[in-house]
Amino acid sequence: MIPFDATKPLLVFGGPYSNLEATRAMRQRAEDLAIPANNVICTGDVVAYCAAPEETARLVADWGCHVIQGNCEQQLAAGAEDCACNFEDGTECAALAKGWYPFANSRVSDEMRAWMGDLPTTLRFTFAGRTFRVIHGGTDVINRWVFPSERDILTEEVVLAGADVIIAGHSGIPSITRVRNRVWFNPGVVGMPANDGTTDVWYGLIRPIDDGGVMLSTHRLAYDHQTTAAGMRRFGHANGYARTLVTGVWPSLDILPPAERDATGQRIRARTLRIAPAARAPLKGTVKATA
Ligand SMILES: [Fe+2]
Repeated sequence: MIPFDATKPLLVFGGPYSNLEATRAMRQRAEDLAIPANNVICTGDVVAYCAAPEETARLVADWGCHVIQGNCEQQLAAGAEDCACNFEDGTECAALAKGWYPFANSRVSDEMRAWMGDLPTTLRFTFAGRTFRVIHGGTDVINRWVFPSERDILTEEVVLAGADVIIAGHSGIPSITRVRNRVWFNPGVVGMPANDGTTDVWYGLIRPIDDGGVMLSTHRLAYDHQTTAAGMRRFGHANGYARTLVTGVWPSLDILPPAERDATGQRIRARTLRIAPAARAPLKGTVKATA
């Protein structure tokens, strides 16, 4: 059992992606919200597209929050030659990975590789009477793409995960989705925008509420994206992703199902879901969108 402070919210976020400025902003937001490191969970891919892999890994390790392995941690810890992101051959993402992954692989220290290799692949815990499971991509397949519009995949995954609330990363777009009396909660990532035409990145909160239930929510986070983009251009790698930091649109839409692809450039709304106390009822509730 993870010894959370049950009187405070949990802060959950994904994909720092070697984006040092965004990760600093995330840590600062946690401090502003008075959320201790032990109540913070990262869903992995600490190192990826941006230009500060070692510095970002050290920042997260120094923070002391909970982190699970993403495919990037597994590959870097193993000294592998590619990211295993599950990009299809011939796509822009696959081409860009040939730039950023070797760059990251050449800059991450043995100490940080060992830290990545020691991270767990999943976490389970109980909070406000509900069971939670933290995974990176899919439950059994670390680099599986899971999006809210693909209901068959979501249904398969919530059954496999076996918890009331599944906290997932990897896919890069924030969402809270009810599936078969369970919830798929992707708090988004801090290292890249969410393909919604804004430069903001995303995180999530899990808050205990007065009636004994719990509130899930997604939140925007602004940070100094111009400095991050300038750093990437200076090193001359992954410029498609450097553009994404300032346009808010991904360099390739190949991994997206049609519904998420059609939403490209449309501002994402924050979401909330209030879950009743476990003793009162099966998991019910309606996801609400806010501005
Ligand atoms: Fe990933």
